[in-house]
Formats: sequence, structure tokens, C-alpha cells
Amino acid sequence: MAENNGNNLISIQNLQVHYKISGGLFKETKHVKAVDGVSLDIKKGETLGLVGESGCGKSTLGKAILRLTEPTGGQVFYQNKNLVDDLSYLQIFHKISVAAIFAAAIFIVILISKFIFSDYFSSGLNNLLTVILSVLNNLLTVILSVLLGSAVMIILICWIIKSVMLYLSDRKMRENRKDLQMIFQDPYASLNPRMTVGQIIAEPIRTFNLSNGGNIEAKVQDLMETVGLNRRFTKRYPHEFSGGQRQRIGIARALAVDPEFIVADEPISALDVSIQAQIMNLMAKLQKEKNLTYLFISHDLRAIRHVADRVAVMYLGKIVELGDAKTVYAEPLMPYTKALISAVPIPDPEIEANRKRIILQGDVPSPINPPPGCHFNTRCPYAIGECKKIKPKLVEIKPQHFAACIRISAEKPHIEENKESGLGIVGN
Ligand SMILES: Nc1ncnc2c1ncn2[C@@H]1O[C@H](COP(=O)(O)OP(=O)(O)O)[C@@H](O)[C@H]1O
Ligand code: SF4
Ligand SMILES: [Mg+2]
Repeated sequence: MAENNGNNLISIQNLQVHYKISGGLFKETKHVKAVDGVSLDIKKGETLGLVGESGCGKSTLGKAILRLTEPTGGQVFYQNKNLVDDLSYLQIFHKISVAAIFAAAIFIVILISKFIFSDYFSSGLNNLLTVILSVLNNLLTVILSVLLGSAVMIILICWIIKSVMLYLSDRKMRENRKDLQMIFQDPYASLNPRMTVGQIIAEPIRTFNLSNGGNIEAKVQDLMETVGLNRRFTKRYPHEFSGGQRQRIGIARALAVDPEFIVADEPISALDVSIQAQIMNLMAKLQKEKNLTYLFISHDLRAIRHVADRVAVMYLGKIVELGDAKTVYAEPLMPYTKALISAVPIPDPEIEANRKRIILQGDVPSPINPPPGCHFNTRCPYAIGECKKIKPKLVEIKPQHFAACIRISAEKPHIEENKESGLGIVGN
């Protein structure tokens, strides 16, 4: 695929997406740390492959870059503009408005009870006491009304502040939305079955006011042709197309707004093997023609090797290895990457028969409560005691080849040779 020119189009810094899962009314709230402190640069014109087992946070990372999922923390720079606003302070307004709602509810209950029971208390009392009680009653009514009014004002002010800040943040993102597009895994689920293909592809053009009337029709037909579909099929519905053709429609829709950067989330996983190569080739051709930059997400290392210039390996919300795709594939550093590569079947039956597989023990641990230290320590054949205590940093081991393992260093890059020895690099 395209040569990268060294300029970063996207720069991700310490990105976090922690999904809150409510534990119920009396249980503590837990967080799924789907993306947990990812820093990554994506160079203009390159394809960065993102690989890892299912559930390790690839889709969440892709969506968070485009802010289709709201990041919990960190920054994403697109052409040096930060796309992520730190809106964590809005939590304070949320908490204040919840407290104000509770207070308002209590004031309302007291006010209602007071109206119900005031006659009952005043009955049978002499005139003076009735007057005193009546004055106190009126005073209390005034105080409660003022408090209730204040609580409602606080709720309103918090709501207005939250809405305005979210609106401004959305508007800022909208300015960049056109340039940053996504292609989804399931080409059928991501296409509205009630819209014709022409309407589907035209929708983003209309949303961003990029063309009008007959021009849109012509542009849609051109896009159909660009992705290898018959330009006369614009009146057809998604179900009238095959899986591969539907993915081409998804690609045409993404291209409709002339984006610079595309996150392709498992774009070939739902397709037959014979169609996969066609879609990969189409994406490569479009990249060259339109100078596109891709984040190509896949759990399939073979696909990544075929399409990517560089590859980032992800495990439980963190990038654990990053480097040139061919180098990572030929000389992986991390035990995890080695295990993933060893699982890829080799087309030659003789080599395949003698292939030594590294079988990973168990499943990916829960991102709600990831193992301490190096998240991979529960499955790593080279784990030592320190692996449970130290969080490894992603460090450059060889030129432009990074790994996050405390037992690998530039001096001792081969973990097998370090098996009995102590630590290589130390994290934090
Ligand atoms: N909306 C959500 N709410 C809570 N947890 C989620 C949500 N979306 C994804 N997750 C969890 O986040 C983790 C990462 O998911 P995902 O990014 O889809 O992984 P991948 O694409 O690598 O398979 C998984 O444990 C998944 O269950
Ligand atoms: S830090 Fe420890 S557990 Fe993690 S990959 Fe390295 S050796 Fe394995
Ligand atoms: Mg996914």
C-alpha cells in the first residue's frame, strides 16, 4: 500500500474509554476498561493495521478516534486539532443536578404534607396560638417555595450548561466529521434496508451539503462505478446485493464525502474468503487514487499482513507491540504477538504439518478487572513474579519497532533467551 511520508495525520495520546456498567441500586459501579491509555500516531497515507483477539478493544478504539464513542480521557489530534474535549467537569454539574432533584422532591413532599396536615394541627387551639401557627406556617411555605425555586433553577442552569457544552463539542467535531469516516464489519446491518442504494450513498452528501439535485445523482453513480458496482443499480435495495457488493456500498458511502481518514472495522470478516481479497484490493486501489489513510482493524493477522504498512497489536485495552507490518510478522517481539502469528495457518501442507503452535492458555481476562501489572501475565509462558507488579511501557526495542514487556530490551530483544534471566526493561 501507499508509502507514508512521515507526517502524522492522527495522533492519539493516552486515550481511554471506560464503559460504566451499573451494578444495580446498591451495588458498586464498575468500569469496562475497553481502551486503557493508548498512544499512537497514524501517518498520512499509510494503513495502520490494528490486530488482537476479540474483545480486546479494537472497535472501541476505532470509534473513539472518530468520537462515535465518547472517550473517557486522553486526546486525539487530527491535523494538530484536538478532537476530544475534556468534558469530565460536566460530571460535577450532573452530580449537582441529581442532588438538586432530590432536594426539590423533598421540598415538594414537605409542602404537600404541610397543606394536608395544617388544618389538623390548628384545630382546637386558642386564637393566639392559631395566629402564631398561621404566621409560622406561612413563613415555612415561603422558605420552602424559595428553596424549591432555587433547586429548580439549579437543575435548569446545570442542564443548560451541560447542553451548551455538549452542543459546542459536537459542533467542533462536526466540522471534522466529513474528513473522518468509518466502514463497518457487517455490510448488511450497517445499511438501512428501507433505503435504496442511491439514497444510502447520497445521504452523507446531503448531510454535509456537498452537492445538490442532479449533481448528487451523478456523483452517486460515479461512486458506484468507483467501487466496482453497476451505476444503473442506484434504485435497488441492499438485500438485492451480495455480501461483497454490500461492503462496496459501505465503502462508496464512506467515500461520498471525500474523507482523508477511514477506520475500517473488520471490513472483510463477514465476507467469503474469495471476496475478501477483492475488497482488500479495492481498498488499496482507492487509497492510492485518493491518498487515503486507513486504520484497518482485524482479528485476522493474514489480512493485516496483506494490507498494512505498520501494525499495532492490542491486548486488553493496551497496545503491546507496534512496528512495520512485515517486521512484526517476521520477527515478532512479544510473546502475545508470537502466539497470534503461530495460530495463522500456512498454505503449504508440509510446512503447516511441522508448524509449531504456541497455544495461549485460557481466554482474554475480563477488562472489568484486568490482571495487575502486565495484563498478559495470566497467559504468558514467560511470566515472572515482577510481571504481576510492573506495568510495562511501550518502548522502542529496535528502530521503529516497539514492545511492552519488562523482559525485553534493546540489548536483549529475544525473550526466549531471557527466560531464566531477570528483567529487561522496566515499566512503571
Ligand atoms: N457499549 C458498551 N458498554 C459496555 N461494554 C462494552 C461496550 N462496547 C464494548 N464493550 C466491551 O468493551 C470491550 C472491548 O470491546 P470491543 O472494542 O468491541 O472489542 P473488539 O473490537 O476488540 O472485539 C469488550 O469487553 C466489550 O464487551
Ligand atoms: S511483561 Fe511478563 S507477562 Fe508480560 S509479556 Fe513480558 S514476560 Fe510476559
Ligand atoms: Mg470489534
